[in-house]
Amino acid sequence: MNNIKAIIFDAYGTLFDVNSAAEKCKNKIGKKWEDFANHWRTTQLEYTWLRSLMNRHKDFWQVTEDSLKKSMETYNIEASMKNELLNLYKVLSPFEEVLETLKSLKEQRYKLAILSNGTPNLLNDLVKTNNLENFFDDIFSIEEVGVYKPDTRVYDIPIKKYGIKKNEVIFLSSNTWDVSGGGNYGYQSIWVNRNRDVFDYLDFKPKNQINSLKGLLDIIK
Ligand code: LAC
Repeated sequence: MNNIKAIIFDAYGTLFDVNSAAEKCKNKIGKKWEDFANHWRTTQLEYTWLRSLMNRHKDFWQVTEDSLKKSMETYNIEASMKNELLNLYKVLSPFEEVLETLKSLKEQRYKLAILSNGTPNLLNDLVKTNNLENFFDDIFSIEEVGVYKPDTRVYDIPIKKYGIKKNEVIFLSSNTWDVSGGGNYGYQSIWVNRNRDVFDYLDFKPKNQINSLKGLLDIIK
């Protein structure tokens, strides 16, 4: 990968483990906690896509709460757990290799940024809570354009800010559709495939896939 100027990370699912909120309540939720967590995540993403298509934007925090309500009803989870789960979503844990990878990248010459559906407040708090605030040059939120990924206006945000070419960006996401979104836009997208999943048929195949963010360090060597 030549001429790379910026390394840009998706947040939810890529740097931060979206299932960690429900996992921290698994004693109360029981065996179904993982199915419930996946349902919540899928519903949340569907709501972002649907709201963008309907032109009815609500921010990511509201979408997270709306999707949680549906998933709690679907899985018969006691209503009293709603606030606990939402509070845990504000302090999601990073994946184990995140800190080490960011430390290595910080010593190099790239701009480092996050580009996420999250609101600026959510993202800033998440990064601060996990002591990662000194690693990023920018935290870009889709709130700047009021539409969710994979709308191309979102992937435009860092390009406009840095005045660089699309293919000078390495974009990393664990979400296959986000890898396709960034790749179709023109980024050099890398798929963080932690769970040996199958990739999409959406007219883009990533040249590189890694099973942990640490794999990026070999790619840019
Ligand atoms: C984000 C979602 C896609 O952080 O994970 O933008």
